[in-house]
Amino acid sequence: MQRLENQQPTLLEKSYTLEDWQGGYESLKEEFDYWIDDIEEEIPPQLRGTLFRNGPGLLDINGQRIHHPFDGDGMISRITFINGRAHFCNRFVRTDGYLAEQKAGKILYRGVFGTRKPGGLLANIFDFKIKNIANTNVIYWGDKLLALWEAAEPYSLDPFTLETLGKEYFDEVLSKGEGFGAHPRFDPSCIQDNGAPCLVNFAIKPGPSTTIKIFELNSAAKVIRKYAHQVSGFCFIHDFAITPHHYIFFQNPVVFNPIPFVFGVRAAGECIKFKPDQNTKIIVIPRFPRGEDSELKILETQSGFVFHHVNAFAVGDEIFIDSICYDSLSTVKPKSDFRQVDFAAASPSQLWRFHINLQDGQVKRNLIEGRCCEFPSIHPDHGGRDYRYIYLGASHAADVNAPLQALLKIDLKSGERQLWSAAPRGFTGEPIFVPRPDAQAEDDGWLLAVVYDATCHRSDVVILDARDLNKGAIARLHLKHHIPYGLHGNFTPKTFLSN
Ligand code: CO
Repeated sequence: MQRLENQQPTLLEKSYTLEDWQGGYESLKEEFDYWIDDIEEEIPPQLRGTLFRNGPGLLDINGQRIHHPFDGDGMISRITFINGRAHFCNRFVRTDGYLAEQKAGKILYRGVFGTRKPGGLLANIFDFKIKNIANTNVIYWGDKLLALWEAAEPYSLDPFTLETLGKEYFDEVLSKGEGFGAHPRFDPSCIQDNGAPCLVNFAIKPGPSTTIKIFELNSAAKVIRKYAHQVSGFCFIHDFAITPHHYIFFQNPVVFNPIPFVFGVRAAGECIKFKPDQNTKIIVIPRFPRGEDSELKILETQSGFVFHHVNAFAVGDEIFIDSICYDSLSTVKPKSDFRQVDFAAASPSQLWRFHINLQDGQVKRNLIEGRCCEFPSIHPDHGGRDYRYIYLGASHAADVNAPLQALLKIDLKSGERQLWSAAPRGFTGEPIFVPRPDAQAEDDGWLLAVVYDATCHRSDVVILDARDLNKGAIARLHLKHHIPYGLHGNFTPKTFLSN
């Protein structure tokens, strides 16, 4: 791996080619199960546990291309680290939709993000069947391995075999088809449970007035608290943040016009329109309602679109929340190809800090990082707490919107940045921070990422020392195949192998 200082592109030169980037959006149809034997350098023996990742594994159904990668069937990749070795396994989530389409050999469902059934208007009009594609995140919690997709119930898998076990309803807390968000938040020490860890998640039931449901799960994956709150207007909310006392949601300024969806000419996701002239609303909800403190508060800030938050924490009456902001919501137009995106024409997603004053209702914001970045990760024990380090996927060059090719570490205290880049032919996604056992320092651990390598159309699992990304990769594990660009994943210190 070349070091970054040798690779800074000139102003006229791009750090990538579109053709290379497109290779990461080919389907992976095969399922594998093997020990990784092509390894550069060494896997740290102390790195022990399992990285689960989810993302669209199929970008076509038997040659019929889907319209947007968010519509692709969920495929779980599992990398198990044990005794200095690593094992790879991938399996598609056997959702009802996956099984039906694989059997039929064609697209049977309209996708939320623009995939249409063949057959034109007549095949799509008044068809509201939604395909739960279980493709957005995967988390191991309370002995359950759950593939998450925010608009419907999770799918449960066997962590040893990755076999799909069925839909998860948490002892009938969820009803059939009820949403369960793809971005659960980890509270390492819940004040309501005498400091026990808990998992906090939400679901959106959109409409002219939106219901935000909240679930808190104990470490046995039992739902111990469930709340519902009403907010006015349509909500497109993908992620949220928590502090020990609050949930924080950003209500992006969008409207939903259902008519083209009902008539089959647009997918649901294509009927969402960004309103740049309207403010973003910040919804702050107390976690444990008590008397007059139980009211939800709505504050306003400048228009923008947020998919992902990094973290939030409270100091007195002020809440700080760090979020990845876009100028607007970009959509893939009908009849266009998402693979032909002009990255440079869009403005980059950037990291901002919002200062929310609950006393006077004022919101201030300041830019933390102007480089194009996405997919944040932090030390899990700092969820909802003050913290120092953020890890992100980032563009190689600082001054232009581009695909993610690098991993960026930000030290919020000193302002120092470290960047490891896989450019020109490597493409990154979400890094996951894994603390070293018995570590004291917040950044003492490893950063794990799957990197697509266009030189050989395969992917690598890259391990970095999170204390110093400038050292370069401390191990690089070459897979026998590529993994299509994924979305989210999680690490557990438990080790899972197929046999
Ligand atoms: Co997400």
